Amino acid sequence: MKNVDFKSLISHCKEYGFIFPSSEIYDGLSAAYDYGPLGIELKNNIKQYWWKSMVQMHQNIVGLDAAIFMHPKTWKASGHVDAFNDPMIDNKDSKKRYRADQLIESYAEKIETKIQKDVDKAAKKFGDSFEEKQFRETNGRIIDRQKKIDYAINTMNQHLKDANMDGLKALIEELEIVDPEGGSRNWTDVRQFNLMFHTQLGAIAGEEDKLYLRPETAQGIFVNFLNVQKSTRQKLPFGIAQIGKAFRNEIVARQFIFRMREFEQMEMQFFVKPGEEMKWYDYWKQTRLEWHKALGTPAENLRFHDHDNLAHYANAAVDIEFKFPFGFRELEGIHSRTDFDLKSHQELSGKKLQYFDPTVNENYVPYVVETSIGCDRMFLSQIGQALREETVPDADGKDSTRTVMKLHPALAPIKAAVMPLLKNKEELVKASTDVFDKLKAHVICQYDEKDAIGRRYRRQDAIGTPYSITIDFDTLENNTVTIRDRDTLEQKRVKIDDVSKIVSDSCNINNIL
Ligand code: GAP
Repeated sequence: MKNVDFKSLISHCKEYGFIFPSSEIYDGLSAAYDYGPLGIELKNNIKQYWWKSMVQMHQNIVGLDAAIFMHPKTWKASGHVDAFNDPMIDNKDSKKRYRADQLIESYAEKIETKIQKDVDKAAKKFGDSFEEKQFRETNGRIIDRQKKIDYAINTMNQHLKDANMDGLKALIEELEIVDPEGGSRNWTDVRQFNLMFHTQLGAIAGEEDKLYLRPETAQGIFVNFLNVQKSTRQKLPFGIAQIGKAFRNEIVARQFIFRMREFEQMEMQFFVKPGEEMKWYDYWKQTRLEWHKALGTPAENLRFHDHDNLAHYANAAVDIEFKFPFGFRELEGIHSRTDFDLKSHQELSGKKLQYFDPTVNENYVPYVVETSIGCDRMFLSQIGQALREETVPDADGKDSTRTVMKLHPALAPIKAAVMPLLKNKEELVKASTDVFDKLKAHVICQYDEKDAIGRRYRRQDAIGTPYSITIDFDTLENNTVTIRDRDTLEQKRVKIDDVSKIVSDSCNINNIL
């Protein structure tokens, strides 16, 4: 059994209606994608899992759906107008544009790959007696290579912190980094590039009417903090959760739906008493990791990565990284945002954003711990780990290869397929449509009568349907059907009256809350 490669994953998504390139008939739009009929079901299930576990399961977390357009001052207060920048560099020969920090990070990743090769070789040679830590600390070649990585990353971080664009360019030259496309070292200067898209309000617009497409959903929560707190009478600590679109004019957007210019975030701001933020930061770090594991994501595919460069609003930040087909990358961020946002909005709007704490009889600006996950990245993580090729026995008992999407049943877009054994037997078709009509009120299911039964099973495997229900001649005798399990291939005979319960119970999202 093996996971399919990234290219095949992308074409599978298109072939089966999970994801299409945006406006494809015009040759597509870079880094924009449309979710197809199965994609939208899977995406909705991911959102439902997040919403239920964050909002419904917490008495002290409530929901919000704020507008994408916000008053322009919002983005001045939040720091995005002045500081939401990425360092951009062009190669003069290839005319390709890059993020300077990503070029330096890839340089370090390449050296790390070489180190890993040496480690793997030694592990093979020494077998059980191999001590990786000791090997890394004592092998001369590895020590030299590690020094190169540390130098590149530490120097880059310092330059990013100081907004020193000349320093970044000098570092790229010093490390002799070449254009990954053309191999040239003919670089422009590094410039700051603000990632916010903007548009204008109304027909006659001046600078003050400049509207931004929100680059994060969080600010809609901050500006509504008192509205929500007062209308719900929540006491600290409490949270506000929101799912919605965000927009970033990424310099380099690639890797399918991993980095897009329009994407969806699921964010929760947890308002706490100042001084208690680190306790809640640790709590949410663990709680969010468990949320991922509950879906069956193996622990070795998830890891924490503390931020070296803190965003302008944070005093602590960690990523939950997932092992995507192209390596470990950020899936979710947990940030301790202090009172930065509420205080800035308070100052710029002149409106108090304070909480009256009856336990100490005092007004204060709460601190905030945020959990923020990209819905599209979550989608990619799930299909990436679920889509596999494996060898299984076919109907004649011979080995055959199948493509199967082993999604958690609660996330699967279609929960069951209902199939008559033969499509030209009227009584089988009638019995099948009866089963389908009963089931469709409980779960999303498909009726499928085309092709041989084996091919229909394979089609359902490829889209992750956990159950296939077959209506055969015994059904007409005794009101039973066979129910086939996608993962074990086991087929059981069950009563028609039990089908809805079996399928809805095992696909219920509540099983993992
Ligand atoms: N409010 C905090 C915030 O926006 P972030 O780390 O910039 O923090 C949070 O973004 C999450 O949003 C990321 O962990 C990632 O899953 C998702 N995300 C960010 N940029 C994205 C992009 N260009 N395309 C897809 N998802 C993105």
